[in-house]
Amino acid sequence: MMNETLIQAAKDYAQTIFAGDSSGHDYYHTLRVHALARNIAYVEGADMLTVELAALLHDVDDHKLSPKTAETKENAVKFLQSHGIEEERISKIVRVIDQISFSRNTLPPDTLEGQCVQDADRLDAIGAIGIARTFAFGGSHGRAIHDPEGKDPGSSIAHFHDKLLLLKDKMNTVTGRFLAVNRHKVLLDFLEEFQKEWDGIC
Ligand code: ADP
Ligand code: NI
Repeated sequence: MMNETLIQAAKDYAQTIFAGDSSGHDYYHTLRVHALARNIAYVEGADMLTVELAALLHDVDDHKLSPKTAETKENAVKFLQSHGIEEERISKIVRVIDQISFSRNTLPPDTLEGQCVQDADRLDAIGAIGIARTFAFGGSHGRAIHDPEGKDPGSSIAHFHDKLLLLKDKMNTVTGRFLAVNRHKVLLDFLEEFQKEWDGIC
């Protein structure tokens, strides 16, 4: 199968998996991570096919979406096997997917391909898109947008400080670090404006 056809099949597969999800792990998140990972991988000289497939399949076995297959990565593996991908590449893709989750792993991925996909996934959590996703997540979980008294530690603004503002220093690749600079600034500018409006200053 031509790579282009295979990539399209992986996109179509992700679309069927995420139909109707509003937790922030939606189909368009997958497409954005794919596009970013591709750009990063190209500059970094990583194996493009492994990066593209891992990016497109990185959330199809997410523990919140598909708890039964989260450990085995069965959805991703079955997709790859049914499209004739060699076992060696399947193992590498599964390793990448396993290593990129930012809530579970503290060590950086041990392959360049994993580092590219993790950077892409993290970049999609910051910048304008990251802000939109944060409030979408907060809304779907009944969280406050902001809780100045700190009674709701899960508030969306708290999430900026707990996680989002830390991501720029966790980028693995030079390209990821470069792309994170502007997205990080977007977060800081947003927080500053938010606070001023909250206080009725502007
Ligand atoms: P992963 O499963 O890849 O580790 P998460 O499920 O933690 O990622 O995050 C998915 C999206 O939801 C991200 O954009 C993240 O910033 C956002 N998010 C996660 N936790 C919170 C929270 N407590 N409040 C607001 N947004 C959140
Ligand atoms: Ni993701």
